[in-house]
Amino acid sequence: MKPAKVRANAAQILARLLKQQGSLASLLPRPADVAESDQNQIALLRELCFGTCRWYHQLSRELARLIDKPLKNKDADIQCLLLLGMYQLQYMRLADHAAVNESVNASVLLKKGWAKALINGVLRQYQRQLAAASEGKADVDSDDARFAYPDWLSSQLHKDWSGQAIQILHAGNQHPPMTLRVNLSRITRTDYLERLTDAGIRAVAGKLADTAVYLDQGRPVSSLPGFDEGLVSVQDEASQLIPGLLLTSHGHRILDACAAPGGKTCHILETLADADGEPSSLLALDIEARRLTRIEENLQRLKLASTRVKLMAADSSEPDEWWDGEAFDRILLDAPCTATGIVRRQPDIKVLRQAADVVRLSELQQKLLTRLWACLAPGGMLLYSTCSVLRAENDQQISSFLAETPDAEEVPIVVDWGTAVAAGRQLLPTEQGPDGFYFAVLQKIAH
Ligand SMILES: C[S@@+](CC[C@H](N)C(=O)[O-])C[C@H]1O[C@@H](n2cnc3c(N)ncnc32)[C@H](O)[C@@H]1O
Repeated sequence: MKPAKVRANAAQILARLLKQQGSLASLLPRPADVAESDQNQIALLRELCFGTCRWYHQLSRELARLIDKPLKNKDADIQCLLLLGMYQLQYMRLADHAAVNESVNASVLLKKGWAKALINGVLRQYQRQLAAASEGKADVDSDDARFAYPDWLSSQLHKDWSGQAIQILHAGNQHPPMTLRVNLSRITRTDYLERLTDAGIRAVAGKLADTAVYLDQGRPVSSLPGFDEGLVSVQDEASQLIPGLLLTSHGHRILDACAAPGGKTCHILETLADADGEPSSLLALDIEARRLTRIEENLQRLKLASTRVKLMAADSSEPDEWWDGEAFDRILLDAPCTATGIVRRQPDIKVLRQAADVVRLSELQQKLLTRLWACLAPGGMLLYSTCSVLRAENDQQISSFLAETPDAEEVPIVVDWGTAVAAGRQLLPTEQGPDGFYFAVLQKIAH
C-alpha cells in the first residue's frame, strides 16, 4: 500500500467514525488478519487513526480557525485528511513534506482533486503556526483544552474526581503499555519472564495481579513465546484482578453475564483448571452473537473448552429467556459502560461518547443488576465491574442498588490498591500502570 493510499484509507475510516458508523476496533483491520508484507502500512494506518482520535478535539478546534467556512458533510473525508495531516505535523516524527505531499496525493485517490490546493494551503499554514508556537509566539490552550477531551467529559471528571481529574485526563492521552496475563495453570510467572528474556523481550512483573507482566513495548502476539499454545493472553492488569475478587471454588455454578470477548471468562477458568473436587460450571452470556466467536477462539487457544463451559447469545437482563431456574453461586457482571477508564487504549471514546450515553448505560447497568440479582443463590456473590471512571456508573450505581435491595450487602474489598469510594473500589488510570477500573462485591444475605 502506497503512503498516499494509507492516508486516504485513514480519512475514510475517520469519516465513518465521525458519522457514528463504527469504532476504531470495528473499522480497522485486525493485525492478525493482515499479510506480513502489509504490516508496516497497517501499523501506520493504526497510528494515524488512533492519534488523530486522541487529539481530535484539539485538532478540529485549530482546523476551524484555519479554514474560512466548514466543509460540507459530503466532504467529511477531506476534513479528516486535513485533521490527519495536522496530526502528522504536530505529533509524528515524519518529514513535514511527506505529511503535506502525501495528504495532497491522497485527495486525488479519494477522487477529490479539487481539494489539492486547500490541503496544501491549510497544512503549510499550520506548519508555520507550529513553528511560531515552538518559538513561544502563539496562543496557549487553557488547562483543560490541552488534553483534548469533549467538554462534557472533562467537566464530569472534574465533578467526580476534583483533585485527581488532571491525572485522569493526562493518563488517557498516553500510549498504553502492552500487558500480558500468564496462564498460571501452565507456567509460573517467573518462568515465563525467563522465556521472555531468552527471546530477547524485556518485561517486568505487574505489582497488583500475580499473573500480570508488562512488556517494554508493544509487539505482535505471534512473537510471544508460547502464545499459540496458550501460555499467555493479552489483558490489562486491572482486569486480571477479577478472579481474586470473585473467589470461585470447586463445585460453583458461575455466570459470566457479559462475557465477550472472553478475557475474564478464560482467566476464571484458568484459576479453576487445577482444582480437585467437584467441577465448577460456567455459563458465559453475551448479547452479541458474533462476539461469542472471540470467546470460542480464546477457549480453544488456551485449551479451556470443555463441557463445563457453555456459551450462549442472550440478553442477560431477560433471565426468562435463558435461565433454567437453578441459582448461581457466583455472578460476574462486567457491565457495558462508557469505557472512560480505557481512553488511552480506545481514544475514539473521546470522539464517539456523548453525555447521553452515561444516562443510557447507567439505566442498562441498573436493569442488569436488578434482574441478575434474582439469579443469585442466597449466600452467593455478585462482582460488578466496569472500565469506567464515572461515578454514575460505579459507586453511585452500587450505592443506590444497595439502598433499594434489602437482601444485598457489600463485601469490603480489602486490598492495597485503588481508592475506596462510597461503595466498592476504584482504580484510576495512571501513566504506566493498569487501566481505570471499578469493582464492587455484593453478597446475597442468606435468611
Ligand atoms: C465490558 S464488555 C465485557 C468484556 C468481557 N467481560 C471480557 O473480559 O472480555 C461488555 C459486554 O457486554 C455485552 N452486553 C451488553 N449488553 C448486554 C446484555 N443486555 N446482555 C448480555 N451482554 C450484554 C456487550 O456485547 C459486551 O461484549
